[in-house]
Amino acid sequence: MSVSILVTDKKSDLSPAQVNVVPVDGKRKIKAGLPKATDDFLRASMVERGFKGEWGSGLLFLAKSRGSQYWSVIGLGIESGEAKRSEGMRRGLAQVIGDVKRYGLDTLSVDLRGLSDAADLAAAVAEAARLSGYSFVEYSKSLRQKQAKQSVRKVIILVDMDAKGEAAGRVREVVNVMSGVDLARSLVNSPAEEMSPQKLAETAKEIVSNSKSKEMSVEILDEKQAEKAGLSAFLAVAKGSENPPRFIHLTYSPKEKAEKRVFIVGKGITFDSGGLSLKPANYMETMKMDMAGAAATLGLFSVIEKLALKVEVHGIIAACENMPSGKAYRPGDILATKSGKTIEVANTDAEGRITLADALAYAAESKPDVIIDLATLTGACMVALGETVAGLFSNDDELAKKILAAAGEAGEGMAHLPMPEEYRTLLESSVADLRNISSSDYGGAITAAMFLREFVGKVAWAHVDIAGPAFFTHGRLPYYGVGATGYGVRPLALYLKRI
Ligand code: BES
Ligand code: MN
Ligand code: ZN
Repeated sequence: MSVSILVTDKKSDLSPAQVNVVPVDGKRKIKAGLPKATDDFLRASMVERGFKGEWGSGLLFLAKSRGSQYWSVIGLGIESGEAKRSEGMRRGLAQVIGDVKRYGLDTLSVDLRGLSDAADLAAAVAEAARLSGYSFVEYSKSLRQKQAKQSVRKVIILVDMDAKGEAAGRVREVVNVMSGVDLARSLVNSPAEEMSPQKLAETAKEIVSNSKSKEMSVEILDEKQAEKAGLSAFLAVAKGSENPPRFIHLTYSPKEKAEKRVFIVGKGITFDSGGLSLKPANYMETMKMDMAGAAATLGLFSVIEKLALKVEVHGIIAACENMPSGKAYRPGDILATKSGKTIEVANTDAEGRITLADALAYAAESKPDVIIDLATLTGACMVALGETVAGLFSNDDELAKKILAAAGEAGEGMAHLPMPEEYRTLLESSVADLRNISSSDYGGAITAAMFLREFVGKVAWAHVDIAGPAFFTHGRLPYYGVGATGYGVRPLALYLKRI
């Protein structure tokens, strides 16, 4: 069961809470208007423990008085901007939740009275509670038992009376999107043995059959149909695997006529062995996550009806497995693509951009207003930006701005990277229109993005390289454990809502 979240303006609703959480600014100042004795006690406790209210930190301590058993403080920093305060809340609360679980407690309250950004912070509380409440336990009984013993069941958010409506609305929005994040995480965490291209297609079908309105539909192309549709580069990547490929096209069209059409394209390599350009064992270990872009797309579509969008949204996934075999595509092969451009395969491990070339051309063909692709595309992007920050590339500055803003609001790291025209020559081939890897050792995330750009024509397009933040092999942020993060679902939902 996932955590239940209540927004209230009644102090009496706090009574079940075992832990009372209050945010503090960088001067150990608490705005909630607590009784003086409580305020003094918390202040003294912070001094004693050397807690200065540092941004994103959280501290738990035993209560002295009756009532709840514990108090906790969370640092939001001094005068930090709104998005930063929200992220401080997510990180601080996630740390506190970690302690709460270890202590075997399950109910906490967060006191947001007296804060002008209470609605933002309430949303952040809900996000942190849901993100840190996620666990992937399907494959282990002992993990399931541990989860049953250690999980937060209830979070009560206390706000001033006049903030309650907005805060409750924001929390509802978060809760609506969060099940999509959970779905994305579980699809990525599932082993590639299970999460085949066919399974992704079945998931897309389930999403549509579970939908309540007639606003959703899905079209699945098998190999033959994909060939007819001209997706031959995609099919070349798929050839080495025993698991047949599936090309997935989801559509959400709201009842009221939409003014804009947006295509979301997710990289869907269910396992990336590298193909004949085989990866070394240690690089292959986590490659079940190479469908994280597809998972984010499916996660988004699983909640899209609840977002009350005014846009028509399409989700495109070219799902296949990159495997070596006697049937596999080879270095040196020259591939036809849907766009008509040909690709020389220099390295079968640069497979994502080949499948995306066809998926993007397919999307561009229906002349949408915007295409956004999410792809675990390059290790080079992780070299450039580390594990928590995604790379953003775009041929449209306005679009880039909007996506960056949505990511910032969601607390998902994203940096805008350039596509310098002089790098275009690095993709030139002596036998085809393009080569699938750059002739330089440097700037691999950029040249990969510039490769994709060749297939979107004049459509406003953004590419998000999520190789880093889609999956953590170490706990890199307090509200995620090890494994999939569901990166992209929350910013996409925000971006679409703002249109
Ligand atoms: N799926 C990988 C990229 C990746 C690496 C994602 C690490 C997540 C973590 C992609 O298909 C790939 O193999 N890229 C190569 C490109 C190279 C052959 C030009 C890479 O990054 O090494
Ligand atoms: Mn690869
Ligand atoms: Zn890949």
